[in-house]
Amino acid sequence: MILETKKICNRLRDDIVALAGRKSPLLCCVGFSEDGSTLSYFRSIERAANKTKIRVRKEILKDISVHDTVSFMETLNRDGDINGIVISRPIPLPLQKAGIKNIIDPAKDVDCITDENLGGLITGNVLYTPPTPGAVMEIIKEFNIETTGRNVVVLGRSDVVGKPLALLLLRKGVDATVTVCHSKTRYLISLTRTADILITAVGRPQFLKCNMVKPGTIVIDVGINVKDGRVVGDVDFEDVKRVAGMITPTPGGVGPVTTHILLLNVAKAAKRKAD
Ligand SMILES: NC(=O)c1ccc[n+]([C@@H]2O[C@H](COP(=O)([O-])OP(=O)(O)OC[C@H]3O[C@@H](n4cnc5c(N)ncnc54)[C@H](OP(=O)(O)O)[C@@H]3O)[C@@H](O)[C@H]2O)c1
Repeated sequence: MILETKKICNRLRDDIVALAGRKSPLLCCVGFSEDGSTLSYFRSIERAANKTKIRVRKEILKDISVHDTVSFMETLNRDGDINGIVISRPIPLPLQKAGIKNIIDPAKDVDCITDENLGGLITGNVLYTPPTPGAVMEIIKEFNIETTGRNVVVLGRSDVVGKPLALLLLRKGVDATVTVCHSKTRYLISLTRTADILITAVGRPQFLKCNMVKPGTIVIDVGINVKDGRVVGDVDFEDVKRVAGMITPTPGGVGPVTTHILLLNVAKAAKRKAD
């Protein structure tokens, strides 16, 4: 079964519009270069936002100093019209070293990247669900996928996907048994083959093959990669589809849900401010 996510996006869109009410919340997207992936990321946010009440402002900061970038981010924090701020990744090294992500006001950190908001995931005290891990959880919920006591293997331990996702899967009520793998993991195939649910976030085109998957496993592909000029996931879809019980497609699976959760967070930020 192919897990189509259009219905989830439609439902989230209705939630965003309802939450925004008469307000038109504003999301500011900050990029650090005009590379294709930044521009296409911001375009996909804009396209989804156009069908909601969310407004999008784009800022590309290039050829400016770290000091000026920090000052600019601080002006966004103070700007009362802006409800949410998202920055493009990867963050250039000098800005990473300056701790740019933690300059974002946690109340406007709708992408859940600040240490403060990420830290809240440990205790379950979160302002905003991290969009990509949240998208995986929405897919699990939408298709009534049982998680209690099941073996969930997550490939990837990034701060954006793998680690926060593991924390969401471990929550009481979700109750998965979670294994997180990374590039130093030994005997990877023996671990992936234990998975009842296998989630890939490694950033390697078509990395997961059918010999790594136990028959009937639910495969959720977070990866978005470009190979030979087309977008592919971390999963070799045609190969793995033959053995998986359920599988998400790429493009069109996790990605659009992620964008809608980001926009839902912007609507939540606007509501919190108004309340
Ligand atoms: N669908 C969406 O909405 C969405 C959102 C965000 C990202 N993405 C996509 O998801 C993918 C991952 O993104 P990310 O930001 O998490 O990437 P990342 O920061 O580069 O992390 C990749 C992770 O994969 C691990 N890894 C790399 N090669 C491996 C291997 N051979 N075996 C096992 N683990 C391996 C790395 O291990 P080490 O830690 O040891 O290096 C790392 O933990 C990318 O394709 C990205 O474009 C999609």
